[in-house]
Amino acid sequence: MLAPPPVLLSADRIAGRVTELAGQISRDYAGVDDLLLVGVLRGAFIFLADLSRRLTVPCSVDFIAVSRYEHGSTATADVRSIMDLRVPIAGRHVLLVEDIVDSGGTLDYLTRTLRARNPASLRICALTRKPQRAPAGLRIDYLGFDIPDQWVVGYGLDYGNQLRTLPYIGMLDPAVTQRSVSGATASGADGGDARLRMVGAER
Ligand code: PRP
Repeated sequence: MLAPPPVLLSADRIAGRVTELAGQISRDYAGVDDLLLVGVLRGAFIFLADLSRRLTVPCSVDFIAVSRYEHGSTATADVRSIMDLRVPIAGRHVLLVEDIVDSGGTLDYLTRTLRARNPASLRICALTRKPQRAPAGLRIDYLGFDIPDQWVVGYGLDYGNQLRTLPYIGMLDPAVTQRSVSGATASGADGGDARLRMVGAER
């Protein structure tokens, strides 16, 4: 079991920013009678839950699940579809809700996939972004925080599927993640997955 890491973004700071984002989104979508929030599983589940409950416009919720890396791939390589949306989105106003934009590969895949289904509009809301890694031209309509290029956990973000339920976002010691590259740790149900990710990218 990993020890809770030092705080990067406190629970209070996250809550304040989520409230601000919800206010901005509610103003922008005023008059839209059924905004569709699409949460990207697994990492976005906590952010989506908090954001959606602060919106003042009518909205529905759906989820899509993807995973970034396959064996031997690199950070921006293939994104694997795990679970699709339940509802058609043609003609709908869609807001894609992500916990983190790292290499930007997931967002690129999802925006291309969803745009092909002809929504009335598609915007992106991401709680965090690593500006050192995300492509400069990648558009994020609603952004919570820019963060350093380090592996972050908590508030939905994981390390080997652990630490997602921390109430704050913390930064893992690089020594922990480096041990995983050499195959020494990364326990938990998703541990093998974490080791593969480490070879391809930092987060
Ligand atoms: C994480 C995160 C984003 C994605 C961002 O998902 O939740 O969806 O990585 O990375 P990128 O910008 O480099 O594509 P991950 O595939 O780790 O799955 P998870 O949400 O189930 O943890």
